[in-house]
Amino acid sequence: MDKEEWAGRVGDVWATEQRRTDRTFEPVDKALVDAAVAAVEGIAAPHILDVGCGAGTTSFSLAARLRDAGITGIDLSPALSGAATARAAALPDGIAGRCRFEQADATVWAGGSGFDLLVSRHGVMFFDDSVAAFAHLRTLAKVGGRLAFSCFRSPKENDWVAKFAHLMPGGAADPHAPGPFAFADRDRVAAILADAGWQDARATALDFAYVAGAGDDPVADANDFFQRIGPVSRAIRELDDAGREALRVALDEQVRAHHADGVVSFPAAAWIWEARA
Ligand SMILES: C[S@@+](CC[C@H](N)C(=O)[O-])C[C@H]1O[C@@H](n2cnc3c(N)ncnc32)[C@H](O)[C@@H]1O
Repeated sequence: MDKEEWAGRVGDVWATEQRRTDRTFEPVDKALVDAAVAAVEGIAAPHILDVGCGAGTTSFSLAARLRDAGITGIDLSPALSGAATARAAALPDGIAGRCRFEQADATVWAGGSGFDLLVSRHGVMFFDDSVAAFAHLRTLAKVGGRLAFSCFRSPKENDWVAKFAHLMPGGAADPHAPGPFAFADRDRVAAILADAGWQDARATALDFAYVAGAGDDPVADANDFFQRIGPVSRAIRELDDAGREALRVALDEQVRAHHADGVVSFPAAAWIWEARA
């Protein structure tokens, strides 16, 4: 998954799917924001950078929890940074006035410095050169500034993709290539952070329910969501007609099997990483 995709088609889809992606990430957002709030405890008016901020939800969560924080969100996607700006305009001044968003590439952005905290909800697994990117991000933090980000653990531990892996193309693809699971390997990420000059890095495992469908018809909602965004939607685009049909059938079976108590939800697994500049 490359920069052009995020800046174009994939970012556009994420912008239209903001509500449903936020739903899948809700437990991650809570754990990440808890870690972020703890990281800036005792700092008056912390200055925070949200890297790969998407449509701004984590920035808004932070602004709501940290009443005097100033938050800058940057994202490659014009659609997502635009969505974040538009959403901010609809929020109370106390939150909107402390959040600003920019379309930018975080690996080279130099629009600010001295941040107390860099945070990212699943926005840092897509860099071509992760060591160089995290070294650059470190220069944006003040000395002793903190880093907190989330990322997925392995596909095997994420049933919302594991259940379909056998029907997807690209089985031999490089597991470390930029993409949603590029940071699954804890030792590899620890080495990236150390090589980039971040200290005291530690990862906490988070197991959570990935809610893919809800509302009046959770099964239809989940089937539609998976076909619009994420690895299943990508596979559906890439497969031939027979492969696509087999995947759609498996998808519907799994969605129905995971429908209970008014939602369709799959076991999912993430890391919450923390480190110090
Ligand atoms: C999985 S999405 C997460 C978005 C958002 N943080 C959320 O949780 O909804 C990854 C985000 O990282 C952004 N991204 C990827 N590479 C980036 C880069 N080099 N600079 C800035 N943003 C980047 C993408 O545009 C996308 O919005």
